Formats: sequence, C-alpha cells, structure tokens
Amino acid sequence: MKNKHELIEKNVGLFFIFTILAISIGGLVEITPLFFQTAMNKPVDNLKPYTALQMEGRDIYIRDGCHVCHSQMIRPLRAETERYGHYSVAGEHVWEHPFLWGSKRTGPDLARVGGRYSDAWHIAHLYDPRSVVPESNMPAFKWLSENKLDGELTGKKLEIFNKLTEHRSHKDAQGNPIPLYTTEEIAGAKSAVKGKTEMEALVAYLQSLGHALK
Ligand code: HEC
Repeated sequence: MKNKHELIEKNVGLFFIFTILAISIGGLVEITPLFFQTAMNKPVDNLKPYTALQMEGRDIYIRDGCHVCHSQMIRPLRAETERYGHYSVAGEHVWEHPFLWGSKRTGPDLARVGGRYSDAWHIAHLYDPRSVVPESNMPAFKWLSENKLDGELTGKKLEIFNKLTEHRSHKDAQGNPIPLYTTEEIAGAKSAVKGKTEMEALVAYLQSLGHALK
C-alpha cells in the first residue's frame, strides 16, 4: 500500500474508531483541568446561600419556565458588560443545582437583576408586564399572587443543597467545610415560607441575583 492513511480513509470502521478516539482525547484535555481549577470550584467570597424563601422562588422560576426566555450568564463582551454589569464568573454559580445559565434570550439576561428594580416593580411586571413595559411580549404570571406556599418540602430542599455543595462550600479557619444551612435553618424553613405567596418568593429570588461579586 502506497499510503497508510488510505487504509483509514477507506475503511469506515477504522475511520469511525479513530474519529471517536480523537474527539475523546480532545474533549478530555479541555474538560478535565476544569475539575481541578480552584477558580471553577471555589465560591466567590461574598456568595450567600439562598434563604428558604429565595430557594422556593428559584423553584418557581424553573417551574414557570423563566429560564426558557432569560439567561443568567453575562458573557465577557463589551456590549454585554455595558448593559448588564460585570461578566459572570464560575465562583458565583458553584452552588447552583441545576444551573440556569441558559443561552436563549427572548428577554434580557437576569444574572444581575437583583436590586435593579423595586419589589413593587417586579410584582406589577410579573402580574402584567404591559403595565410597566408597554411594548413587552413577556407573558403575565397572574397566579403567582394567588398561590401560597405550604413549605412542606422546603427543609428537605435545604438539606439536599447541603449535600450537593459539601465539596464546594466556604471553609472555616481550619479548612473545614461550612454547610450552607444550619440545622436550625433547616428546621425553621417551613415556618419561614408557609403562607407566603409564590410572588413574594419569586421576587425575593430575583432580588438576590448577582450581588456576590463585588
Ligand atoms: C416568552 C418569553 C418570556 C418568559 C417565559 C419570561 N419572560 Fe421575562 N421578559 C421577557 C421579555 C421579552 C422581556 C423584556 C420586556 C419586559 O421588560 O417586559 C422580559 C423582561 C423581564 C424582566 C426585566 C429585566 C430587565 O432587566 O429589564 C424580568 C425581571 C423578567 N422578565 C422576569 C421573568 C420571570 C421571573 C419569568 C418567569 C416567571 C419570566 N420573566 C418569563 C420574556 C419572557
């Protein structure tokens, strides 16, 4: 055979195997180091766990599909940072399960929406977006003001987040992990949210977004 490369090019099976091999090695070389980089795994200093109410708000955000139209990741491009603020960094998101970065932007990015508007603005906007932004095509989420939380599962959720974030929590002076939630916080989670509306929870969550990076 003149050309050894011909053997691979003309044999579908071999070509397939070598292609998979090349992609796997390339992928591993790119992905593996990320697991060991501190910047990817360490929470930024000011990162605070969601309160029980914010945690419930986050679940409503996921349930009602807000992430389908809104990303939560500011890219390191001038047009983005001028509009939304500092680009997102991994250390702000190490406790997110699942993460809500997204890429679909029918509406604006929400990674740093916390504090941009008043609670009253959010309530009016979620109840009827056109009442505050006349040209808006965001759907209205009227039920949020009526539905109330019972808090049955809130404590359980906090407990699960303690487990999920064990290896990425803040560390105390001795280097021991500090759990996101204390036993008292978990025990008090139900009463912290019971009777609150879904609107209150969602707005609390939105207002918490994007303050960790100073
Ligand atoms: C069908 C797409 C769509 C969905 C679903 C959606 N939005 Fe929006 N959202 C938009 C659009 C478009 C805008 C821009 C116009 C406006 O401000 O209303 C917007 C604007 C916003 C803003 C103002 C952001 C800013 O910086 O001005 C917030 C906050 C917001 N949405 C929150 C939510 C939340 C919370 C949910 C889920 C309950 C949600 N959105 C669901 C499309 C959507």
